[in-house]
Formats: sequence, structure tokens, C-alpha cells
Amino acid sequence: MKKKVAIFASGTGSNFERIADDSRLKEIMDIELLVCDRPGAAVIKKAEDRGIKTFVFAARDYNSKEDYEKAIIEQVKDLDYIFLAGYMRIISPYFLENYKKTILNLHPSLLPKYKGKDAIAQAYNAGDKEIGISIHYVNEELDGGEVIEQTFLTVKENETLESVTNRIHGLEHELYPKVILELIKEAL
Ligand code: GRF
Repeated sequence: MKKKVAIFASGTGSNFERIADDSRLKEIMDIELLVCDRPGAAVIKKAEDRGIKTFVFAARDYNSKEDYEKAIIEQVKDLDYIFLAGYMRIISPYFLENYKKTILNLHPSLLPKYKGKDAIAQAYNAGDKEIGISIHYVNEELDGGEVIEQTFLTVKENETLESVTNRIHGLEHELYPKVILELIKEAL
């Protein structure tokens, strides 16, 4: 039986797109839902174009984080996995207590280095020659759960931040679907 998954994203959704269009993944999972915390984000149309249901919310419409997380949990409680792909909110301990299944995150740094925002720029500005990405399990710490897989590129002489950023996205688009594929195949 195919696994049922949700993807959480806040922005452009290039990773969402790669996951949704991966023919290997289509055989083993169905994306039942996109959760997005930014009304108007480009990722929403990407989901709609593919006939994927969306749950879009604005945090300001809720009294507390627990309130909107409750609404999300209601939507995902029967799904087997959650994949965070550029979702810019921290999953709280409350969420983790109420959704006990696997949640993965993609983070554009070689964790444990450069947790949080602007990780690529942080690594670039620090002069790192090797800049990479991590896919990890989500726990209650920001970008803190066990790392599953990492990969990196070597910054070229005089390479701009823009070029490094584009190449990092290229690594993400390859690695995230591959890790998801391996994870689900093991569970089938
Ligand atoms: C990616 O760089 C991801 O690593 C980070 O947010 C970005 C999302 O990009 N967490 P996109 O929306 O998938 O294009």
C-alpha cells in the first residue's frame, strides 16, 4: 500500500515540485496535502496545478501556536509522513507529542553548523570552502534531530553567493527525493 504524506512549505516550493514530480516516489507514496503558512506563496499554485489538496493558514488568525498546530494535526493525523521543505516555522513539542510519526526536514547547511535562517549566507560569509545540506529527523530542537544524510559542494574561486545558492538548491533537489525514497522503501 502506498504511503500517505504531507509536505509543509512556506515559499517557492522548488523542493516540493521535485518531490511531487519524482516518478519513483509516485509509485510508493501519495502527497495528500500541502501545508503552507503563507497565503499567496508560490508553492500553493504548484500544489493546485497537480491536484494536491492544500491547507493554507496565517498564524495571525489564530490565538496561539497551539491553536494553529491543532488545526494542522487534524489534517495530518492519518498520514504516514511529514516532509518539511522550506517550512519556516518551528514544529513545537506539542505538535510532536500529537503526531508521533516520522517528520523529516531539509536544511541548507552541514548540521550542526549554521542552524536557523540564512544558513547558506552564514556559511559563505564565514568563508567556508565546503558548503552543504542536511536531511534530518525533526525533534523539539531547531534543526536539531538526527542527521540522515548530508552532501556538500566546494566553493569555487571568486564564486558569488548567488551561484553557491543555486548550486545548493541543485543538491537539495537531488538528495531530498532520494532520501525519501530510501526511507519509504525500507518501511514498505
Ligand atoms: C531550501 O533552501 C531549504 O533548504 C530551506 O528553504 C529553501 C526552500 O526552497 N529550508 P524551496 O521553497 O523548496 O524552493
